[in-house]
Amino acid sequence: MKKTILITGATDGIGKATAMALAQQGHQVIVHGRNREKAQRVVAEIRTATGNQQVTFLIADLFSLRAVQQLAAQFLAENDHLDVLINNAGAVLNNHRAVSVDGIEKTMALNVLAPFLLTQLLIPSLEKSSDGRIINMSSASHRASGRPDLNDLNLEKDNSAQRRYSLSKLFVIWNTQHQGKLLKQQGVQNVTVNASHPGAIVTNFGQDSDKGWLVNLVYKVAIKLASFGPLRTMATPEHGAATNIYLATSENVDGISGLFWGDAKPQKPSTRYYSATAEQQVWDYCQAVVRPFLSDAKH
Ligand SMILES: NC(=O)c1ccc[n+]([C@@H]2O[C@H](COP(=O)([O-])OP(=O)(O)OC[C@H]3O[C@@H](n4cnc5c(N)ncnc54)[C@H](OP(=O)(O)O)[C@@H]3O)[C@@H](O)[C@H]2O)c1
Repeated sequence: MKKTILITGATDGIGKATAMALAQQGHQVIVHGRNREKAQRVVAEIRTATGNQQVTFLIADLFSLRAVQQLAAQFLAENDHLDVLINNAGAVLNNHRAVSVDGIEKTMALNVLAPFLLTQLLIPSLEKSSDGRIINMSSASHRASGRPDLNDLNLEKDNSAQRRYSLSKLFVIWNTQHQGKLLKQQGVQNVTVNASHPGAIVTNFGQDSDKGWLVNLVYKVAIKLASFGPLRTMATPEHGAATNIYLATSENVDGISGLFWGDAKPQKPSTRYYSATAEQQVWDYCQAVVRPFLSDAKH
C-alpha cells in the first residue's frame, strides 16, 4: 500500500537517504527542510532518480515552535491524512549554550521540543490512517548522557554540547515510551510510535559544531576512519536509513509501539536513569512548553 510520509530533516544525510528509498518504493514523500533552495534541489534529485513525482517539500526552521506549528498547519491544509511521520531532524550543537526564539536551549528545542510539538499537532492526521506510524530518531549516545537534572530541563547548567545531545536523545526515548502508553490508554489502536538509532553514520552531523577540541578531534578521526576504512560500507546514510525505512514500511512492526530500535531490531535502551516519575516529568515539561502552540493550531 502506498503511504503518505513526512520526514523532517530530509534535505541531507540520513533523512535524505530515507526519503530517496521511500520514494523509490513509490510512496508519497514530503521532504521537510529549512532552506528552500536546498529542499527544491533535493526534491528534484529524488524525482529524477526515482521517477516518483509525488515528492514535495515543506519548509520550517525547527528551532522555532511557531515554525513547527506552521509546518503542521501547512501539511494539514495540503493532505487529508498522514501514514508515517519520521522525526529525523536533529543536531549536536556548540559547547557555548544558546537559546531559541522561544527561550529554549537549542539542542532541546530541535531534538526534543520540535518533534514533540509536531507529533501532537499531527496525531489527528495519523489517526485518519489505517496504520499510522511515528518514528523518532534517537541515538545510541543516549547511553552517555550521565544523570539528567530534572529540575534543569532547559539545560542552564550544562556546558557540554555532547552531554546536551545525549540527554536530548535520552528524552526522545522517554517521550516515545510515554506517547506509546498514552495512545494505548486513549484507545488509539491505529497509531504506533517507536524510537530508533541509525548507528555511526558519515553525514554532516557534528561537523561544524564546536564541542571542545577533544570531542571535535574524535569526531574528525571517526569520520575519516568511517569514510575510508573497512567500516566504510557500514557508515553510509543509506545504511543509517535502513531501520527507519523498516519501521515505516514493514508489516512485522504492525501494532508494535513504544520500543527503541537499531539494525531493524528492538533493542534495550539504557534504563540507568529511568523511572516512571522521571519520564512523566520530562513529558510534563515538554507539554507545558508546547501548550501555547497547541491551542490555536488548525486541525
Ligand atoms: N550521523 C550519525 O552518526 C547519527 C548517529 C545517531 C543519531 N543520529 C541522528 O540522526 C538524525 C539525522 O542526522 P544526520 O546524521 O543525517 O545529520 P545531517 O546530515 O546534519 O542532517 C540533518 C538534517 O536536519 C536538518 N536540520 C538541522 N537543523 C535544523 C533546523 N534547525 N531546522 C530544520 N531542519 C534542521 C538539516 O537541514 P540542512 O540540510 O539545511 O542542514 C538536515 O536535513 C539526527 O536526529 C541525528 O541526531 C545521527
